[in-house]
Amino acid sequence: MKKIEYTKLLQLAKESQNFSYSPYSNFCVGSAILFENGQIVTGCNVENSSYGLSLCAERNAMTTAVTKGLNKPIAIAIVGKPGVPCAPCGACRQFLVEFNYEMDVVLENGLDFKVYKLSTLLPDHFVYKTE
Ligand code: THU
Repeated sequence: MKKIEYTKLLQLAKESQNFSYSPYSNFCVGSAILFENGQIVTGCNVENSSYGLSLCAERNAMTTAVTKGLNKPIAIAIVGKPGVPCAPCGACRQFLVEFNYEMDVVLENGLDFKVYKLSTLLPDHFVYKTE
């Protein structure tokens, strides 16, 4: 992917932070996922007074995408505190691996960004096998 595409994805993730519902942590997270067909779906974190029910921005975006028939993500951008990398939590890593183990994970890093392969962030992930 080109630098300009990563930058656009990060910008959309940043815009989604405005929708974050995070009255408990006051930590606004936004995400944007690019799909194989060029479409982009965004998400934000949604907290709950029963803390454990809180939903991360990445899973919010991914499940929203599935409702639109999009399940082939190629890259996800995640934004939290400005300029500081906001790496996806363990649960989100496993959740995203379901759809593409090799997707790019784009994180802000100062004025620039860094890109990881999801497979690097979650080696030896759980795979569902019945035999
Ligand atoms: N959060 C995310 O949205 N994504 C992550 O990968 C980690 C954490 C949210 C959950 C909670 O609303 C807030 O950040 C503080 O943990």
